Amino acid sequence: MTTLERTDIDRVDGPRKTSGRAPYPIDVTYPGMAHAALVRSTIAAGRVTGFDTARARAVPGVLAVVTAGDAPHLNPAPDTGLWRQPPPPLQHTKIVHHGQYIGLVVADTIEQATEASRLVEAGYEPVDAVLGLDDPRAVTVDDPFGSDRTRGAAAAALATADVVAGGRYTTPDETNNPMGLFATVAAWDGDRLTVHDTTQWPDSVRDALAGAFGIPAADVRVLAPYVGGGFGAGLRVWPHVLLAAMAARLVERPVRLALTRPQMFTGIGHRPATVQHIRIGATRDGVLTAIEHDSVQPVAVDDDNIAESVTTVSSVGYACPNVTNRDRQKRLNVPVPTSMRGPGDAQGHFALECALDELAYELGLDPVELRLRNHADEHPQLRLPWSSKALRECYALGATRFGWWDRNPEPRSMRRGDTLVGYGMAGVSFFWFQQPCDARATIDREGRAYVRSAATDIGTGTYTVMTQLSAELLGLRVDQVRMGLGDTDLPAAPMQGGSGMTASLGSAIHSAGHRLIQAFLDLVADDVASPLRGLTAADVVAAEGRLAHADDPSRGESYREMLDRHDLPELTADGSAVPSKPEELGLAPAGPFAARFAEVHVDADLGRVRVARLVSVVDGGRILNPKTARSQIIGGTVGGIGMALLEETVTDPHTGRIANATFGDYLIPVNADVPDLDVVFVGEPDRFNPVGVKGVGEVGLVGVAPAIANAVFHATGKRIRDLPITIDKLL
Ligand code: MOS
Repeated sequence: MTTLERTDIDRVDGPRKTSGRAPYPIDVTYPGMAHAALVRSTIAAGRVTGFDTARARAVPGVLAVVTAGDAPHLNPAPDTGLWRQPPPPLQHTKIVHHGQYIGLVVADTIEQATEASRLVEAGYEPVDAVLGLDDPRAVTVDDPFGSDRTRGAAAAALATADVVAGGRYTTPDETNNPMGLFATVAAWDGDRLTVHDTTQWPDSVRDALAGAFGIPAADVRVLAPYVGGGFGAGLRVWPHVLLAAMAARLVERPVRLALTRPQMFTGIGHRPATVQHIRIGATRDGVLTAIEHDSVQPVAVDDDNIAESVTTVSSVGYACPNVTNRDRQKRLNVPVPTSMRGPGDAQGHFALECALDELAYELGLDPVELRLRNHADEHPQLRLPWSSKALRECYALGATRFGWWDRNPEPRSMRRGDTLVGYGMAGVSFFWFQQPCDARATIDREGRAYVRSAATDIGTGTYTVMTQLSAELLGLRVDQVRMGLGDTDLPAAPMQGGSGMTASLGSAIHSAGHRLIQAFLDLVADDVASPLRGLTAADVVAAEGRLAHADDPSRGESYREMLDRHDLPELTADGSAVPSKPEELGLAPAGPFAARFAEVHVDADLGRVRVARLVSVVDGGRILNPKTARSQIIGGTVGGIGMALLEETVTDPHTGRIANATFGDYLIPVNADVPDLDVVFVGEPDRFNPVGVKGVGEVGLVGVAPAIANAVFHATGKRIRDLPITIDKLL
């Protein structure tokens, strides 16, 4: 195990958050602010024939009522990078899903707006909704993500394989459900717009609003310094964001629009259900010869989810000569799905890692040994060496810490009284993601740094790890660095998504830090009073608030001294980082890897499953802060326990209405459902970006469900291929 530099500091934004001084979007208030409430469709397909708004308008305090088809015009939002935005709301009377916005009420108070929104009456002309993946009327989208791959000839290899395992696996719709209710506060000043929004990507909100209202992007400012969780729900610019700005323009007052918990189930995406078919072929001694992996997931009729490849893991996870992976979508009358923590990989690993467990039993081979025999030493699709990979260490260390080798593989063999004990494991190969990003760094005459970027921290620890990284690069203490985030007036930044922010922003800050050091050296280039004159950034080290000769740290001077002598208040430098290309480096960019080991206890009579232990060993490249990184893994793992045992968004098959759109009905793990989680990091700094990080935001969730499902099989002898694993499936 390589020792990484690890600095275990507390969250720099912790005191602000725990004392209520961190303004989340929903907390923002303006003098004279009005409140908006949404009206949603109660049919899943058809059109609105008309509205009666008289009772709504009669509610005291109501300022405006807007309905579908007679709302102010909104342009479609422009594409932002790889993202398309949802179609603008209220522009027509067609209904394509239950819960679609069909109206908007603005009033002096939230109570008045809410009451009036309930009094808007809509007439409908319904048509038969298409609600099931098996409905023959559903339009199919082939290869929606451009991620289908074929190498070798999987079908032929399966036909001649010694052993074939696999089957049909399903995962349900799940809902992201961040604690923080999504809210938008919009304020116009003439044709200039300021918006406080729950988002993982402020720049895309700015661009979408500018496009929708036909104004320059420079006239829109989006602020999201604190976000109460996202899990992917904040990656797109949802219709309510445009409606808040529309409402503020209509009533010529600032407006807050906060979603209700039920609206959080229909208006901001969710993890799409999957129906997957997987078959894995192997030789008698456990060498994979073929994988065929197909997945179908729902998508909306009029909007696309563009980032949810479920089957890709089967072409990159293991060394296997013959692989076909294929994703499809079916257009249904449902709210559009979108990314939810570990998008695609969470569902895909469930099928692949459970099917491998089945194969291990067919072969009479240990599941860890099976994975080691088929370890992908190079990237199987790109045929390039990985930029880093410590998956073998993940397996070895995880198995040891867990006590895996004491396991009797026989199902139902580890019974303790009425409790069936099961051990299960899974491997994880998560995708790599980095985006172009900019950052700016300033050092002032007090020797303090201000580093900033339009990126967000959605609770992941970005403020903290970027403060640490900046301090290290500039040779300052952590308390000498202030981090600015969540403001589109700051340098351009990508989404906080795909576990890519630490690599994207870290690389940009790396660039800004080096350029700032170079700017100081340029300042003293001809300065006879400076011991640093004539040096470049490569010649110096930054430590204790000063720059010095790398080969003789006694020869140097502080940032303060340089600024004082040149009578400058501060120096600033801009940094920028674009992800490298595999062919340039001759390396396959590696995302994080992990191995998970789960112990479950199943009540033999009642079928109740408890997760008793869960060990995660993660290769996340360089870990900047083990405390925040561990928090990412344990948070993701709790989500994985939810995916395995509890979570399921239930849609009424007749009406298309979500039947459990509350925290009372949609089950997520509580403390009593979660054991102590053992998390260990292994590996070394990755070579694909200068910071050496790989991103740990999502790998914590992926692989938890199959490890638990495999443990349930070991405990009970029952192979549950449909999530969540509920009592009814075990009895
Ligand atoms: Mo993540 S689902 O990319 O926020």
